[in-house]
Amino acid sequence: MQEIIYDESLVPNYTLPDPLVGMDGSPVTDARGWQEHRRPEVLHLFEEHVYGRTPDRAVSVRPEITEQSASALDGRAIRRQITLHFGDVPDGPAMHLLLYLPSHATGAVPTFLGLNFAGNHTIHPDPAIHLATGWMRPDPDGGVVDNRTTEAARGAKASRWAVESILARGYGLATAYCGDLDPDYDDGFQNGVHALFHPPGSRPAANGWGTMGAWAWGLSRALDYFATENGVGVDASRVALLGHSRLGKAALWAGAQDERFGLVISNDSGCGGAALSRRCFGETVERINTTFPHWFCGNFQQYNHNEAALPVDQHMLLALIAPRPVYVASAAEDLWADPRGEFLGAAGASPVYRLLGTDGLDAAEMPGIHQPITSRIGYHIRAGVHDVTAYDWERYLDFADLHLR
Ligand code: GCU
Repeated sequence: MQEIIYDESLVPNYTLPDPLVGMDGSPVTDARGWQEHRRPEVLHLFEEHVYGRTPDRAVSVRPEITEQSASALDGRAIRRQITLHFGDVPDGPAMHLLLYLPSHATGAVPTFLGLNFAGNHTIHPDPAIHLATGWMRPDPDGGVVDNRTTEAARGAKASRWAVESILARGYGLATAYCGDLDPDYDDGFQNGVHALFHPPGSRPAANGWGTMGAWAWGLSRALDYFATENGVGVDASRVALLGHSRLGKAALWAGAQDERFGLVISNDSGCGGAALSRRCFGETVERINTTFPHWFCGNFQQYNHNEAALPVDQHMLLALIAPRPVYVASAAEDLWADPRGEFLGAAGASPVYRLLGTDGLDAAEMPGIHQPITSRIGYHIRAGVHDVTAYDWERYLDFADLHLR
């Protein structure tokens, strides 16, 4: 296994693939060339080599509103809990969405959408939130017993979800437990939504989707629902996707594939997210593929300790979101996620954003701590550890005010 590098002077020399040069060597010189030729090519490269191909076969989705209240959170919110049942089989996979909307909203509102790690009931102490069901990873914050969550976990992750600030600033918030879509362990792709597409016992091909793909797929199904159910109160043309860490990787992949998402936020997404793989700083491709062999496609294993052979790097994932606003955030002590690599990922996407007529990332150098950049590609690094904090949320709300209103 490669040594873990936490020293900038040990970062190997590398050359990034140019997002604006096609595989055949031809330069992309205008928006049309990007949109019609290079963008599909880059998307295909990420499917083949990194995340795997998401099946395009449609499955039936039956929404069921399981609970709602017009006066949740002391009258501040409308709360809806909606189950999206996938496929026609009874007891098939289902995604349980928790939606809060500002109670003072008139009409559909712009809404943040993000998966959570430990169940909807962990994002706020609100006693009406349904407890998550299904397999759950043990949690350092407690509340998980024998891989099942318990009442003790209610509100345990509330510091990561600025629900009251989001509502006060006129936004909605929708979230679902990532394990509804695919439990986060290597089970040979038998459970979660993979089971809808693969006969029991079969594994996806070397370019088949893994857990990241399943999580991203679910985010798009939530957006389908918001787009078709006008009455639910979400403005589907202004959905800001957000994810922390592994769920930040999934948010970026969802935003790259599905151009309906209006804004995408990566919070400390690191390796396989916004950070450049070729830097080999902190977590590497080899380490991520070894610890989490179910996250990416089989082909990604070829790049263990072999990053230079990748036909893409993560700046090109961010470029797939162009010209839509994207925000990359780092934490100074989160070296595992390579803050500088995340910044350079954002910077590397900038030429595509500029080609498409936006200001891209308006920074020549990596900014200091707490000096947010709010151009079409946004970026900040805050003090502290791997986490989502009130500071991060204030920046995301400011950024959404600027770019999503
Ligand atoms: C691990 C993993 C990271 C991931 C993180 C998280 O540290 O190595 O890639 O981002 O978990 O999801 O919190």
